Amino acid sequence: MTNNNLSVTLLYGGRSPEHEVSLSSAAGVLRALNDNTGHTLTVIGISREGHWFIQDLEAQLHHCREGLPLSIDTTAERRVVVIPGAGLARRNGSALATDCVFPVLHGSYGEDGTLQGLLEMAFIPYVGSGVVGSSVGMDKLRSKQLWQQNDLAVVPYLTTTRDEPAGGLHRRIQTELGYPVFVKPNAAGSSIGISRVAREEELEPALQRAFHVDSCVLVEAALPVREIETAVLGNETPRAFPPGEVIPTHEFYDYDAKYTDPDGAQLVAPADLPAQTAEQIMEISCRAFTAVAAAGLARVDSFIHRETGEVFLNEINTIPGFTPISMYPRMVQSGGVPYGELLQTLITLAMARRDEQSRIDYLAR
Ligand SMILES: Nc1ncnc2c1ncn2[C@@H]1O[C@H](COP(=O)(O)OP(=O)(O)O)[C@@H](O)[C@H]1O
Ligand SMILES: [Mg+2]
Repeated sequence: MTNNNLSVTLLYGGRSPEHEVSLSSAAGVLRALNDNTGHTLTVIGISREGHWFIQDLEAQLHHCREGLPLSIDTTAERRVVVIPGAGLARRNGSALATDCVFPVLHGSYGEDGTLQGLLEMAFIPYVGSGVVGSSVGMDKLRSKQLWQQNDLAVVPYLTTTRDEPAGGLHRRIQTELGYPVFVKPNAAGSSIGISRVAREEELEPALQRAFHVDSCVLVEAALPVREIETAVLGNETPRAFPPGEVIPTHEFYDYDAKYTDPDGAQLVAPADLPAQTAEQIMEISCRAFTAVAAAGLARVDSFIHRETGEVFLNEINTIPGFTPISMYPRMVQSGGVPYGELLQTLITLAMARRDEQSRIDYLAR
């Protein structure tokens, strides 16, 4: 089978605070898959409750062409189930042909390895990182640990749990990091639950916000930084594209700067960097990708210290924002690969992983 006429299933929505972001990202992907590839498309929306519903393709294409996000029709007869060892089926049991799933789901139950495990159990190839890459990529602490192990620099940080009294944590911050710090939930995204803390009084409420989202919380030195993002594409031998820069107009790149305030941030691709720095960041980004076992695509976010010029890895996003104006597709496009071609490449990379997996004898003993 060639990879030019496959049954591709777009998955979007999902059980995460980034549900809305997914509806917008998926609209861009659906439109480009339809306009630029010869694949037979199926669209499945996942409700906030986690139920899967097959959508009317034409209705969703109409949304995209109007520049609107996708929607999810949750009529009962649209329910779809995942069958271990078999694939996708409608509620009445009729199979839904799927050669490859294209997940455009951000955050929990989409980007964190759980969906990837479900698809593995159903023998369905999918775009992007596998179980390990997805779950480590979603886990800021484990990503940092793997990067440190590979001699890749990260910002000085501490971790804390609900049991630690704020007073004790405050003393550790004073001795190990110094204020200001960033307090962030370990596994979240879109800046949800993140605060910049300049003094002790602000610590307790910041911890409350973070613990609302995760039971493991990171505290990082808040450094004066430029925020650099790099698109990485590939499997075992990934390539990086020239980095872009996010210049937030808010105190930091918070949820509103990302999504609600149209003037919240300037996205520059490619970033205005000396060639050598750009090369260095591209190299670091590929190593960061490989260190967490990412596959297909990821956006690797790093910081450049404004005074010392040091480069630190911040985080990796294995399913980055994907509207045509999002950073990932923009950086790839400014690096010479059009959006439609990018989507086809991602599908080809997914099928290559499937081919590799098919060489493994799981019953060998
Ligand atoms: N250590 C830090 N120093 C300076 N700014 C930071 C630091 N950590 C986070 N930020 C700011 O907070 C934003 C969100 O943090 P990030 O770790 O990227 O979380 P998310 O996964 O929610 O995007 C960053 O884009 C940046 O603006
Ligand atoms: Mg971020």
